[in-house]
Amino acid sequence: MSILQEVIACPVCRKPKAEVPQRCDACIDYFKNELAKIPSLMDLTPEAVLGTVEENKDNTKPLRTELFRFPIIPFLYEHIFPPIWALGLRNLGGIDTEFGLVTDFFGQNPGIVADVSCGTGIMARRLALSGKCKHIIALDYSESMLAQLQQEMKLDGISLSQITIIRADVEALPLVSNSIDAIYAGAAMHCWKDAVEGIRNIYRVLLPGGKLFATTFLKPFPSIVFRFFSLQELQDIMLAAGFKKDNVQLEARGLYATIWCIK
Ligand SMILES: C[S@@+](CC[C@H](N)C(=O)[O-])C[C@H]1O[C@@H](n2cnc3c(N)ncnc32)[C@H](O)[C@@H]1O
Repeated sequence: MSILQEVIACPVCRKPKAEVPQRCDACIDYFKNELAKIPSLMDLTPEAVLGTVEENKDNTKPLRTELFRFPIIPFLYEHIFPPIWALGLRNLGGIDTEFGLVTDFFGQNPGIVADVSCGTGIMARRLALSGKCKHIIALDYSESMLAQLQQEMKLDGISLSQITIIRADVEALPLVSNSIDAIYAGAAMHCWKDAVEGIRNIYRVLLPGGKLFATTFLKPFPSIVFRFFSLQELQDIMLAAGFKKDNVQLEARGLYATIWCIK
């Protein structure tokens, strides 16, 4: 069985294909049919699996999540924001600097890496081009961001066998518990509905000793649309999700926070 079939899980019962239990009858066919689409994009959001887009009122997302589904946003992320970030908003040197920090932390053989809330895949694509990862799984809630990721992969000459693309909700990650070596969640936590639940999911799917590299923006950015944090709040979120205090390191560069955690 391929690594992917062991690592990708139904977001509802959290089991891989071989273990999906009978009680998951309602979604078993959807999940298995979706897995058969590999290497093409899969939609493994809980609402897709359960077919409850209209009925599931509890799953409505806040504007800070939904706005990334507008088609203009991926264009901004590819063509407008990167030079602005490079001036220092997201580390001096922007994503290239962040890529250096990520690869320093993940090491020479990062294993299976998930880019959670990957957007257009600015990090997933760099990781793929580095050729060091055993496999990369790129997950995001926004269909528009993932469509742009697919286009950019073509332009970069990255094949679908290098990056598996999944539409997913960080609060119901369709990955098996204790299965992923390293996770990148760049500039993402402030966009999630519930940051503790998102990080709790990340903690769950990381292997013991697995690494999380995350970044987000800090107060006093006002939490009007996005939900910004203080460094103390970020530390509290990491601990509430399960990380031990000694295995959490945080740093603020201006209003940009970088977080290194080991499970
Ligand atoms: C600011 S963008 C960051 C994209 C990319 N990681 C980067 O470093 O530029 C935040 C991303 O989080 C995604 N997102 C928001 N809520 C999410 C959720 N509940 N589950 C998964 N992704 C989510 C958005 O669709 C968007 O692509």
